Amino acid sequence: MSQLHVINHPMVQHKLTIMRDKETGSKDFRELLKEIAMLMGYEVTRDIALEDVCIETPICKMTAKRVSGRKLAIVPILRAGLGLVDGLLTLVPVAKVGHIGLYRNEETHKPVVYYCKLPEDIQGRMVILTDPMLATGGSACDAIVMLKERGCTNIRLMCLVAAPDGVAKVQAEHPDVDIYVAAVDDHLNENAYIVPGLGDAGDRIFGTK
Ligand code: PRP
Ligand code: URA
Repeated sequence: MSQLHVINHPMVQHKLTIMRDKETGSKDFRELLKEIAMLMGYEVTRDIALEDVCIETPICKMTAKRVSGRKLAIVPILRAGLGLVDGLLTLVPVAKVGHIGLYRNEETHKPVVYYCKLPEDIQGRMVILTDPMLATGGSACDAIVMLKERGCTNIRLMCLVAAPDGVAKVQAEHPDVDIYVAAVDDHLNENAYIVPGLGDAGDRIFGTK
């Protein structure tokens, strides 16, 4: 069974509260999302591979640890997942970035694929799949299938807000994928929006409504 990690650090919770507020505009929403991504990134990358490197301090030579950033890929689900990329790149600047384009059909709520461009060597990398919202879980599950079809075996899903339904679906269909969230909310409404949630993440990031 995949693990659900709820990152309840006070700074993450504080920033998320501001993001949920409907009075918060796109500029602040984007900045807060970037900051939260960086903070959550500490937990998501907690067991990232380290390699030995020989360096010389002002005092003597030593063998020290260095993150092997070449082993990481960040894959946002377009559009809203883009909002989490910069914060993660601040942590691991040499990570490669792939893109999966999915949108939910407004009537069926089922995801529709419209784009996929991934690093050529993605199968050898730890993949952090990003999307602020895990609602029914349909988009995340389809994106995970696309990554697995490309040979990925080490996938983590990083979201901001999840519904219990989305968590259950990912855990049932992809028990090998750990999920990182800042909050698990109460339920989905009749339009499959998370309640209380924060509204439409893509629209709030890009100011499209
Ligand atoms: C939102 C969100 C997720 C998806 C979550 O994207 O960013 O990708 O819905 O819903 P699900 O768990 O029920 O699949 P949306 O389809 O609104 O596209 P957008 O990011 O382009 O706005
Ligand atoms: N997508 C969003 O952007 N928000 C939700 O609450 C559900 C899906």
